[in-house]
Amino acid sequence: MSGDKLYIGMLGMGTVGRGVYRIITGNGENIKRKIGAELEIKKILVRDTTKDRGIAVPPERFTTKLEDIVDDPEIKIVVEVMGGIDPTLDYVSKALQNGKSVVTANKDMLAAHGKQLFALSEANNTDLLFEGSVGGGIPIIRPLKQCLAANRISRIIGIINGTTNYMLSKMTREGANFDDVLREAQAKGYAEADPTADIEGYDAARKLAILASIAFNSRIVPDDVYVEGITKITPTDINYAGELNYITKLLGIAKETAEGIEVRVHPTLIPRQHPLAAVNDVYNAIFVTGDTIGDTMFYGRGAGEMPTASAVVADIMDAARDLLRNVPGIISCTCFEEKPVKDIMAIESKYYVRLQVDDKPGVLASIAYAFGDKDVSLASVLQKQTDTVTAEIVVITHLVREKNMQEALEIIKHLSSVKEISNVIRVEDE
Ligand code: NAP
Ligand code: HSE
Repeated sequence: MSGDKLYIGMLGMGTVGRGVYRIITGNGENIKRKIGAELEIKKILVRDTTKDRGIAVPPERFTTKLEDIVDDPEIKIVVEVMGGIDPTLDYVSKALQNGKSVVTANKDMLAAHGKQLFALSEANNTDLLFEGSVGGGIPIIRPLKQCLAANRISRIIGIINGTTNYMLSKMTREGANFDDVLREAQAKGYAEADPTADIEGYDAARKLAILASIAFNSRIVPDDVYVEGITKITPTDINYAGELNYITKLLGIAKETAEGIEVRVHPTLIPRQHPLAAVNDVYNAIFVTGDTIGDTMFYGRGAGEMPTASAVVADIMDAARDLLRNVPGIISCTCFEEKPVKDIMAIESKYYVRLQVDDKPGVLASIAYAFGDKDVSLASVLQKQTDTVTAEIVVITHLVREKNMQEALEIIKHLSSVKEISNVIRVEDE
């Protein structure tokens, strides 16, 4: 701090960092009036200081030396928008150890190493803020930690990956091809550097781990989350879902149950009239149920330069206020319990199953018998002929334990009249 100026060091200047720089330089006066000090980004760590970033930044602000930021006593806030875990975890740890308040949008690092980073921030009395790490620009971390603090949260259901929501929305509305829509999402800056994390559900799993840890006051790490991505979702499934009045979404589902915490990310069919069904394109939404508030939903742009920067700059402003009032470190880790995580085999869900079978008498009865034998009760069955000898059957079940469902599918897979189980998708329609 110098007079009424507060200096920031930024690690990385890609999509999000550029947005942060734009807001801090473009909305400087508004920010100053709100927090009572001017913010200045003094140094920016990048790999290549000569790269054209499509934005006018004085060249002397770029550096490739971490020490120019973490060892500069004038820099009080370090903004981490580099991404990844190695070397980022080490850089952020050094910043915290040197007493800097840290703002980050890095869910990969936080989901896996949150415990150690919060311990460091507490030990060094610094802020560690991460609103941009889940849901891009949507306020959700602060609402869960503060505005909903009076509740016992029982359930979170969220669309928390912008890339896959963008892709599924376009595939549903326009029948678009998977590879084409993935390329579009990458061009728009929504996808991670390696889009595998988006389409395989890992990005959503990391975000769900962060949300569940806060909601249930117990540390959940990415390995606790059951994950399935969207790569097996076909236009055929999307169309059948539509015929049955369902919309296909990649959902993060976290529930607190008597048997432990349920945390899973997978493609899910939700009824067309569910509030999450109307959340399209890069928009994210997080549906939270608490014992005093009931249902509440947080909605907005879940990825991209300016939405994410909006959350990051709000965190910077909070960290600045805390520093100016001499109370950094006031918001600490909320994981004060240790709760068990429920095995996926113990969850209960409804299911959509699509099968290719011989089109001859008795086949449907043999499939129904196998389901019934494992206590899987069927809610509806659709059958269509695909060629002269093959029929396609689509089944929606009632609520059933995953273990029973998997056992039934194992039997059905080996029936001589069943050519293929083409897809199995969970259905959430409470
Ligand atoms: P990005 O466009 O890939 O930018 C990363 C920046 O970090 C680049 O400027 C790069 O420098 C710099 N960098 C990377 N490794 C470095 C290293 N070892 N040393 C120095 N600099 C390094 O990433 P992004 O999309 O802005 O994402 C940043 C973070 O925000 C990630 O954690 C991401 O998960 C999170 N996030 C992103 C979004 C989004 O919509 N993009 C939304 C929410 C959260 P060079 O430019 O010199 O290569
Ligand atoms: N790749 C992420 C997404 C960016 O698509 O949601 C936001 O975290």
